[in-house]
Amino acid sequence: MQLEHPLGQDGNTEPLRILLIDDDEVDRMAARRALQATGIDTTLQEAMNTADGFAAAQHGDYDCILLDYNLPDGDGLTLLRKLRTAQIVTPVVMMTGQGDEELAVEMLHAGANDYLPKRKLKPEVLHHTLRSVMHIFQVESQRKAVQEQLAGTGARLQYLIDNSPAIIYSAVPSGDFKMTFVSENLLNVLGYEPHEMLDDMNFWIEHIHPDDRSALMQQLPRLLSNGGQQTHDYRFRHHDGHYLWMHDTMRLVCDKTGQPLELLGSLLDITERKKMEGALQQEKEEQQVLIQELHEAREQLLQNEKMAAIGQLAAGVAHEINNPIGYINSNLGTLKHYADNLIELTDLYQVAEMSFDGAHQEVLELIHSIKSRIDLDYIREDLPDLVRESQEGAERVRQIIQNLKEFSHVGEAEWQLADLHHGLDSTLNIVHNEIKYKAEICKEYGNLPQVECIASQINQVFMNILVNAAHAIEKQGTITLRTGCEDGEVWVQISDTGIGIPADKIKHIFEPFYTSKPVGVGTGLGLSLSYNIIKKHHGRLAVTSDVGTGTSFTVYLPIKRADEDQAEQSNTQPEEIPCGSGGDT
Ligand SMILES: Nc1ncnc2c1ncn2[C@@H]1O[C@H](COP(=O)(O)OP(=O)(O)OP(=O)(O)O)[C@@H](O)[C@H]1O
Ligand SMILES: [Mg+2]
Repeated sequence: MQLEHPLGQDGNTEPLRILLIDDDEVDRMAARRALQATGIDTTLQEAMNTADGFAAAQHGDYDCILLDYNLPDGDGLTLLRKLRTAQIVTPVVMMTGQGDEELAVEMLHAGANDYLPKRKLKPEVLHHTLRSVMHIFQVESQRKAVQEQLAGTGARLQYLIDNSPAIIYSAVPSGDFKMTFVSENLLNVLGYEPHEMLDDMNFWIEHIHPDDRSALMQQLPRLLSNGGQQTHDYRFRHHDGHYLWMHDTMRLVCDKTGQPLELLGSLLDITERKKMEGALQQEKEEQQVLIQELHEAREQLLQNEKMAAIGQLAAGVAHEINNPIGYINSNLGTLKHYADNLIELTDLYQVAEMSFDGAHQEVLELIHSIKSRIDLDYIREDLPDLVRESQEGAERVRQIIQNLKEFSHVGEAEWQLADLHHGLDSTLNIVHNEIKYKAEICKEYGNLPQVECIASQINQVFMNILVNAAHAIEKQGTITLRTGCEDGEVWVQISDTGIGIPADKIKHIFEPFYTSKPVGVGTGLGLSLSYNIIKKHHGRLAVTSDVGTGTSFTVYLPIKRADEDQAEQSNTQPEEIPCGSGGDT
């Protein structure tokens, strides 16, 4: 009979190494014969007592041991236990007598791989037993190898998990997200023992910063329903009580049917990164503020230069016109005097005319013809008017020159005592052209003391507000100027009946470059510069507006200059950027 190799057809052609431990010569022979009859290529080693058998098993390399129970120096069961205790794992087939099943079971418990009744040792049975024992042994060896490998990998994995900077966790994929596993480094990073987190089902949720909790809880249901991965940054309370920023990457793990199994995640401490981001953001914001200030300072400088240039021009023109208008004015006075005299004289001549007799007929006719040609009556009537109108015109020119001088205050960025009514009036004259077709000016001036201020700058504020008021009136309206004095400060209110400012825009009007006017019409600087000027005067600039009704700007100024202003000479740089102040400096 030819049976196949007990280790299967895997190309293994090595003879099977068998150790037979039996003291009975007849039994050994039977075993030899049965082995031969299986046709398996074997090498057989024999021992006749437990001592030799143990020594052979210890030093030889066997694929299988056939072990008899009754031996002269002990029993097979004891030897089997000794072999296993000595970590000799070679498969053992116990050779038992007939009816020794109980003993066989005991042997199996002690580590035997199979048993055979030796009196009926048939080749097929032996072959089958060897085959199954060897197969089981082989499978067992492979399983052990895999288990050892797995144990190694597991240990490495555990080491990596426990020493990674990220806390690894798993949680149930349902409402309370109870943690089912958390890595040991929880203690290093957040100061908690893992069991604290595992035992308390609300631990995770309750240690998240209240401000970050609701956003996170809103997002999580999406992960449960859609699957995939989510990342969240939130603050988590450390055992010491302070909060750390954590970056949580969580993934929903599902089975083959798509049923959620667990939530797997890692928590990374990103507090340092957040701090750096915050510092960077702050730096960026500071830079933006600086850039904005620089921008404003430049615009303020340009505006100042422009004002200075206009002022210089105005002062130059005023100076040039001042002289001629001076003598025109004075000559007109004299002219009026002369004209009055001449009219008085012609009146007398008219009376004298009546007494002329016939001898002067020719002279009389000549007088009459000249009188009717020049229309003496009309001249008499018109001459005083002409002179008066000329005087009024000259007076207006003189007034304008005066206004120009007052407005410009060239070289006078200096504190002085000023009459604000005077400033308002002279500014009104300057912007007369902008206003005259649009608005009627209504003045409700109260009593104002002299105010210590930089008059040219305050005039500049009045001008900006007046021009804005005129621009806000679409067809025809009224600009009302009211003034008053209360509690050590004066106020000047300029109200218009213009289009008004919508509530959502009013907070922007003091911002530099905010304008609702078309490109080229407004730069959006008028009010921001005005704001800075009033601020420098330690005053306030307030605004109220109703769309469709009109707008009121009120300038409040302290009557006396603040002490600190006296210490440092006036400085024309802007101080602060108004932003969404709602109009009160
Ligand atoms: N009296 C007003 N009525 C309605 N809107 C106003 C009034 N005054 C200011 N505003 C609004 O505030 C904006 C900003 O005014 P600001 O004087 O700063 O700039 P601007 O007039 O647009 O341009 P600029 O004065 O530089 O030529 C205006 O564009 C306008 O929208
Ligand atoms: Mg303006």
